[in-house]
Amino acid sequence: MPEFVIFLHPVPGSPGFDAELVDRHCSHLATLAREGRLIAAGPFPDDPDGGMVVGIFDSKDAASAFAAADPFVQAGVETAEVRPWLMARSGNGFLGRLPPEPGTHPFFLETLRLRATTRCFAPKPVAADLVRALLEAAFSAPSEFNLQPWRPIVCDTQSDLLRLQRCCFGQPQVASAGLAVICAVDPAVFHEDAPRAVDELVEHARWAPEERENQIAFVRSHYKDARAHSILNGAIFGHQLLLAGLSAGLLGFWLGGFDDEILRGEFGIPERVHIAGVVGLGWPGGPQTPLPRRPLEQVVGFGAWPGR
Ligand SMILES: Cc1cc2nc3c(=O)[nH]c(=O)nc-3n(C[C@H](O)[C@H](O)[C@H](O)COP(=O)(O)O)c2cc1C
Repeated sequence: MPEFVIFLHPVPGSPGFDAELVDRHCSHLATLAREGRLIAAGPFPDDPDGGMVVGIFDSKDAASAFAAADPFVQAGVETAEVRPWLMARSGNGFLGRLPPEPGTHPFFLETLRLRATTRCFAPKPVAADLVRALLEAAFSAPSEFNLQPWRPIVCDTQSDLLRLQRCCFGQPQVASAGLAVICAVDPAVFHEDAPRAVDELVEHARWAPEERENQIAFVRSHYKDARAHSILNGAIFGHQLLLAGLSAGLLGFWLGGFDDEILRGEFGIPERVHIAGVVGLGWPGGPQTPLPRRPLEQVVGFGAWPGR
């Protein structure tokens, strides 16, 4: 895991910070946070003109470029010193003799373990560029034959969230969230987009060109009854959206309690389209406690049906 520390040292005699410069510095850090690459950042209380950023970068050059683009550095208020760093964490056995746990993102396993359905959020909107980044992350989810049959409907204004809430038996978390996405899936894609998807897979050398016609026919026949596949692909999309939100510091929920007919009518969703569920995200509004899970020994079968 290529982690780096950027030490920001004050430049003696420089004009110092103003609020606008600090805002620009924070926006710069936010770009790193949105990509899940900011581990920690902040000033030193005993030397508030200096500070530190700990992040994940592909190389020392990339870390140095990020440091050089920092508005504090650009304004000549601070200089940056970049050093590679090894972060002790559960995934690497705390760099000691504990057996490392699987997973490559420093906080990913912890984030998954601590996730809990959140139904009450801080009254703070999710900025439009973050909504877009989350949707892009969700669209990188896997889908069968890379058909990407998702046609999500995004509600990120109070009026749209209230419209959605009315379709969800008035469940309060919908209006409390900063963002809720109806995970709709168009099964027509499985038929209509089959040639495009197969051509793309041929272009990327997954299949030989002479297999094209057979593969298109296979895709089309495989998805004759596409309801189960739609729900499967839609749920994967929705959960990737939820996890993307967690990585950006948001909390969220899955919601299956909606009136299908009312929801379709309200948002103009055609009859053929399937709705896998609604995913909501928002800024934390208070502490949350994960619910317990069944012990693995009781529910997992290794190489055989677990018997329960
Ligand atoms: C597909 C799906 C649909 C759900 N629908 C609702 C819902 O309509 N209302 C609700 O309050 N919670 C809903 N939940 C949340 C579950 O109640 C929650 O995930 C479960 O109790 C476990 O709690 P946890 O997510 O905090 O671990 C849903 C969860 C899933 C996966």
